[in-house]
Amino acid sequence: MVQNTSKLAWITGGGSGIGEALALALDKQGWQVIISGRTEHKLEAVVAKSQQIAYFLLDVTDRAQSQQVFNTLCEAYGLPDIVVLNAGYYTPMPLKEFNLDLIYKLNQVNYLGVMNGLAPVLPAMQARASGQILLMSSVAGYRGLPDAAPYGASKAALINFAEALYMPLKQQGVLLRVVNPGFVTTQLTAQNSFKMPAEITSTEAADRIVEALDSTCFEITFPKRFTYILKMLRCLPYRLYFFLISKVTGK
Ligand SMILES: NC(=O)c1ccc[n+]([C@@H]2O[C@H](COP(=O)([O-])OP(=O)(O)OC[C@H]3O[C@@H](n4cnc5c(N)ncnc54)[C@H](OP(=O)(O)O)[C@@H]3O)[C@@H](O)[C@H]2O)c1
Repeated sequence: MVQNTSKLAWITGGGSGIGEALALALDKQGWQVIISGRTEHKLEAVVAKSQQIAYFLLDVTDRAQSQQVFNTLCEAYGLPDIVVLNAGYYTPMPLKEFNLDLIYKLNQVNYLGVMNGLAPVLPAMQARASGQILLMSSVAGYRGLPDAAPYGASKAALINFAEALYMPLKQQGVLLRVVNPGFVTTQLTAQNSFKMPAEITSTEAADRIVEALDSTCFEITFPKRFTYILKMLRCLPYRLYFFLISKVTGK
């Protein structure tokens, strides 16, 4: 095992977008960062921009591979201080294109893929009685949004799951948190045909996450000027919520 005094982070989906920006931000601060993803040239490109980032290929939908990569990572570097289960996928689903394959895929990557990563990480951190796990969810998980039903549902599942375990795990020294970004400019949102309100860059998103690492609150959300409006919508009764969301989206 390599002995090092720097902090250790593992980020899935680290080959692009928010994961890449977060990996590079932590690397800049002297962290040892390990990134994972399916596409080797993307991971290599991130490593090339960094001081000491390393990578392991991983498809998060592969349960056995998730366990194996985590074991190999721990043997080589030790148990991470922070794990960011960030790998995710998004395609909108307009009602006229009900797509069961898409629903399965979004759940396999966004929800079950996160569970595959959590399964080996959680008991290891519980045994050590320390560590922080960030589940990359989305404000799309707050309430149902037209065209984003299967994506939003997969993210809502993460929020609900983490809400259930936050307090009991905190008492054991492990922080299970959710990250709920608004719109961030990445390849994932490039397919949106509408103007995205309060859109921020992946570097800004990474900065917000890094700033929040010293706190212990359940949720990391940004940009607040946008996400707090959605948070308020969450408190509305259904009748008012449906009225407002239909006005805004025209659906
Ligand atoms: N951008 C936004 O506005 C926004 C807002 C809220 C939440 N999010 C969430 O933030 C996370 C990162 O998204 P992003 O916007 O940064 O988009 P992105 O650039 O597309 O990043 C997603 C990453 O996940 C990886 N990935 C996808 N499927 C995978 C799989 N089966 N196994 C392993 N890795 C996989 C992709 O790499 P490979 O394809 O090479 O594997 C890619 O690097 C996602 O969970 C997304 O839902 C994004």
